Amino acid sequence: MPRTVFAGTGYYVPERVITNHDLTQWMDTSDEWIVERTGIRERRWVPEGMTGAEMARRASLMALEEAGMEPGDIDAIVLGTLSPDVFFPGTGVYLQKELGIPGVPALDVRAQCSGFVYGLSVADAWIRAGQYRTILLVGVEIQSTGLDISTRGRDLAVLFGDGAGAAVLVAGDDDARGVLSTHIHADGRYAEMLWGECGSSRKHPRITCEDIEAGRHYPKMEGREVFKHAVTRMPEAVLEALDANGLTTADIDVLVPHQANLRISQMVQRRLGLRDDQVVNNIQRYGNTTAATIPIALAEAVREGRIQRGHLVALAAFGSGFTWGSAIIRW
Ligand code: UT7
Repeated sequence: MPRTVFAGTGYYVPERVITNHDLTQWMDTSDEWIVERTGIRERRWVPEGMTGAEMARRASLMALEEAGMEPGDIDAIVLGTLSPDVFFPGTGVYLQKELGIPGVPALDVRAQCSGFVYGLSVADAWIRAGQYRTILLVGVEIQSTGLDISTRGRDLAVLFGDGAGAAVLVAGDDDARGVLSTHIHADGRYAEMLWGECGSSRKHPRITCEDIEAGRHYPKMEGREVFKHAVTRMPEAVLEALDANGLTTADIDVLVPHQANLRISQMVQRRLGLRDDQVVNNIQRYGNTTAATIPIALAEAVREGRIQRGHLVALAAFGSGFTWGSAIIRW
């Protein structure tokens, strides 16, 4: 049975930097509050006209270049996002159009911050089953156009950023290398702990002027509950993955956790007994880019030489749904 190998990684973040200080123009917040509670110092926001598909295209071309491949080599696209460019169709088909590869299947994954790990689980199963040999896996998010940039929305507005990350996954025959396993979970009882209610199909009409006046078109979050679940579920999922492969935390070389909050990542690190240099954190510079955090962090860590051939890499995700998951990869 073939193994899923990461042949290339890539990322793209918009050039427009929004510092914590910039946010104080629009809301009652401070650099001290944001840094102390989240670790975030700045994030990137898209300029007018930049789409998710365009960011995804740039990240994908970087990943393809590292893999020594062309768009025409891709057999399938799996794309995680909670912020599609339009309500429908998904961003995957727009990315496919931008890459100029008509006919290639494009699947959008709706698993929020866990979108990349969920997508990896699907792509890995396709590769193992022999259905496709080269899959482009992308996480892309534009949060900035949907945030309440006022004191009312400050709990969420300071957290999120925009960006895209991509990986080219190929079928490999070397048993010593590739994705060892993926583990994904969800618990819909917590769906409304972090959610976007409007405009949605269960409402008639989908959005009203009253909804907009009340700010119901902005995302809502019970921050403390999300925090509590994130610091429990992510280590749990990593331990589940290690156990499934007869490994322990001592075998991990690098952990790439979803970048939700630096405090969350530090607690996950402590629970797994890892050193600082084993955990990839870039939330300080990008904030939480939802489905894009893990592939952006992976691509940066590869370029910095922190992830090298032969390393045991663990991924851990947690997000709205709640959804969560992990993956163990022999790089
Ligand atoms: O991928 C998953 C995505 N989400 C997450 O991972 C979020 C998880 N949760 C968190 O990271 C934290 O709960 C937050 C960073 C969002 C909030 O930190 P907290 O320590 O849980 O603060 P809190 O919500 O309990 O709020 C404490 C105070 C409140 O004021 P009062 O009621 O004590 O007067 C808030 O109104 O901080 C206030 N506050 C702010 N102050 C300045 C909330 N947001 C801000 C802000 N700036 N941006």
